[in-house]
Amino acid sequence: MWGFSMSLMKWNDNYSVGILFMDHEHKRLVAMINELYDGIMANHSREVIGKVLDKLIDYTKHHFAHEEEYFAKTHYREAAAHKRLHDELARQVLEIQAKYKSGALASITMELMNFLQSWLANHIQGDDKRYGAFLKTQGMH
Ligand SMILES: [Fe+2]
Ligand SMILES: [Fe+2]
Repeated sequence: MWGFSMSLMKWNDNYSVGILFMDHEHKRLVAMINELYDGIMANHSREVIGKVLDKLIDYTKHHFAHEEEYFAKTHYREAAAHKRLHDELARQVLEIQAKYKSGALASITMELMNFLQSWLANHIQGDDKRYGAFLKTQGMH
């Protein structure tokens, strides 16, 4: 119903923020979003898809915490605003996770997948790139 199966998100150089640890973690997030999408396309069970969702959420929290650790280390002026964006996304995905687990959400919809992938693409290309550029001025790569 969504056409033939292929990756939902394809990494490209426009996603690079020029900082190794961030690019590495963003690539893993893209891979996990694709894994979730592939599981839905392959009609995997709620249990299997739920586990992929858990993994994606755990890694997202880890990634946000890692960026925020650097905000603190580097006294980043936009830290609070950037963290608010992380917190808001985390709140939304935790709500989705709870609804999926309780059965209140019957399935992970394409609309939801599009939301996740566009949030990540926009966040990386906007807020994270701005932070990456700042880190480069601090001599990081
Ligand atoms: Fe990020
Ligand atoms: Fe971020």
